[in-house]
Amino acid sequence: MVNLRIPGPTPCPEDVLQAGAAQMMNHRGPEFAQIIRRVTDGLNWVFGTSTDVLSITTSGTGGLETAIVNTLSPGDKVLACSIGSFGDRLRSIAKTYGAEIESYAVEWGEALDPAEIARRLDAGADIKAVLVTHNETSTGVTNPLEAIAKEVRARDRLIIVDAVSSMSSVPCPAERWGLDVVVSGSQKGWMVPPGLAFVWLSERAWAANAEAKMPRFYFDAAKTRDSLEKLQNPWTPAMSIYYSMDKAFELMRAEGLEGIFTRHEAAGNYTRARVKAMGLSLVPVNEQYASNTVTAVWWPEGVDGKAISKKAREEHGVVLGGGQGKLEGKIFRVGHLGWFQQSDLEEALDVVEKLLTAAR
Ligand SMILES: Cc1ncc(COP(=O)(O)O)c(C=O)c1O
Repeated sequence: MVNLRIPGPTPCPEDVLQAGAAQMMNHRGPEFAQIIRRVTDGLNWVFGTSTDVLSITTSGTGGLETAIVNTLSPGDKVLACSIGSFGDRLRSIAKTYGAEIESYAVEWGEALDPAEIARRLDAGADIKAVLVTHNETSTGVTNPLEAIAKEVRARDRLIIVDAVSSMSSVPCPAERWGLDVVVSGSQKGWMVPPGLAFVWLSERAWAANAEAKMPRFYFDAAKTRDSLEKLQNPWTPAMSIYYSMDKAFELMRAEGLEGIFTRHEAAGNYTRARVKAMGLSLVPVNEQYASNTVTAVWWPEGVDGKAISKKAREEHGVVLGGGQGKLEGKIFRVGHLGWFQQSDLEEALDVVEKLLTAAR
């Protein structure tokens, strides 16, 4: 069996896959309505929200686009914070729809500085929203989101958060942290296949939505919210993914949020300890911000990382994540989110160690 160690799509438990294989039903009928209710209750539980999280049939990027077009108007100024390729993507979406961008970008491997965000907001009274990636999957860095949100809240701006690869794996309580729009995607820590994005809007974000002029049709959050009140979707949803989510929530509730967070923290600690023991360097510059859902590691000088990844895949069935954008060929990434066993991590790291020793 393949040991899929990319940071999503993640492997899914057999029960979750079987649930997804169920026969179709009326997507506007009472039986599917019950599934929508249970799945939405599960999302609200994980997001930590007292109002409903929306599910949209799209990938994480569609969720990010939903967040932008439903809260902003062309010409609105945003502070687009980026620490890697997904932060860049969120900035590009806002730019595409006509937002005025103030860019706050740090070297890849670094985390955002909440004090710098505070300084920029104080200097820019016209900044309407701050765009932040919670967990930057491309560099394996988790931003200090709670501290960032505190600064944004204190200055009464909107905070729009990409939590695609963090929500459900590490703490991200949307209401308690004062977040405004929070996005995740089914193929990450949720243990189900790709196909659904989850988007939550705070009361402040819904108020912004009423004024927001960016064009939207399929991704109109108000349409989705109005349909959800009838336990329907405006469009035909990815029903099989709902079936799988319904089953995945049974497993998540049995484990409990604390149990899930502890398991991910242990996985992060274990993976970092193993790669450091091999003499490798982490991409995160400050280990305090190293992600507990994905570990990004520099290939050592003079080693052909791509060749090692190829061997790991072809000869050992271990599929590692590669580097994205300017990190291509320079780093590898080990996903440890969603459904995994300690033995999967051990096997993957044993293979990396063995192939590295042979290559050095
Ligand atoms: C942090 C982050 N944001 C956004 C995305 C984009 O999600 P998708 O590929 O589902 O569109 C990903 C996917 O890897 C991600 O990790």
